Amino acid sequence: MSHEKIATLFDDWAHKGRGERMQVGHGDVVEQVIDDITVKPGQQVLDLGCGVGWATRMLAQKAPGAQAIGVDVAPAMIAKAEELSSLTIRARYEVGTFEQLDFPDEKFDHVFSMEAMYYSVDLPQALREVHRVMKTGGEANIVIDCYAERESTHGWGHTLGLDLHVLTEAEWKAAFEHAGFTNVELSRVKDRRGAGVEDDFQASEHFPSWEEHVAYHEAGSLRIRATKPF
Ligand SMILES: C[S@@+](CC[C@H](N)C(=O)[O-])C[C@H]1O[C@@H](n2cnc3c(N)ncnc32)[C@H](O)[C@@H]1O
Repeated sequence: MSHEKIATLFDDWAHKGRGERMQVGHGDVVEQVIDDITVKPGQQVLDLGCGVGWATRMLAQKAPGAQAIGVDVAPAMIAKAEELSSLTIRARYEVGTFEQLDFPDEKFDHVFSMEAMYYSVDLPQALREVHRVMKTGGEANIVIDCYAERESTHGWGHTLGLDLHVLTEAEWKAAFEHAGFTNVELSRVKDRRGAGVEDDFQASEHFPSWEEHVAYHEAGSLRIRATKPF
């Protein structure tokens, strides 16, 4: 898998309006996780794989003077994020990759990411970079929808034509610990809106059947919370 391939796919999503639509799909889970993160005034937050930046803007508004920076490899996502941004919100967006973050060591108090880390081209390197740019005592909150225990997501890599990292919960924990994180806690976050009703269900490339959609909902998103130790 290459960054070019990922950028081509997600540029196409951005052109088709799928960047904004992800807010509808991911919004409730992200709201629950962001509500549970304590951002103090003036703190620095990084949003990895920010897409059109809606979560970046939520993070920037968590505390007075906080600043959030979104990074994404797809230029069209970043262009849309800039279009949707406002000068009254301290958020900005950069084109870049997880594997080579263009920030100094120990810049961020928090690193957040929704539905992006399993696309990493080089996952151990991406986690080393997350660790490097975080302050000691800082916290990472990485949320993913595609993981081994959620069987309904196993076909996503094939559907997207990408080689995704479909790890078990134990493998995610080990990968974070290997990168130097401690207090690695895993939990599931369920969308509070429920699975919906079968009559309204429309099959899609990600959810070919109602049963798979329900199983997906029941499993919940995987939240990985980890600290960079002092
Ligand atoms: C499924 S989208 C999620 C976007 C956003 N977090 C949201 O919930 O709306 C994943 C995003 O991660 C970005 N991405 C994937 N792999 C990346 C990498 N290795 N470096 C930087 N960005 C990456 C993609 O371009 C895409 O915009």
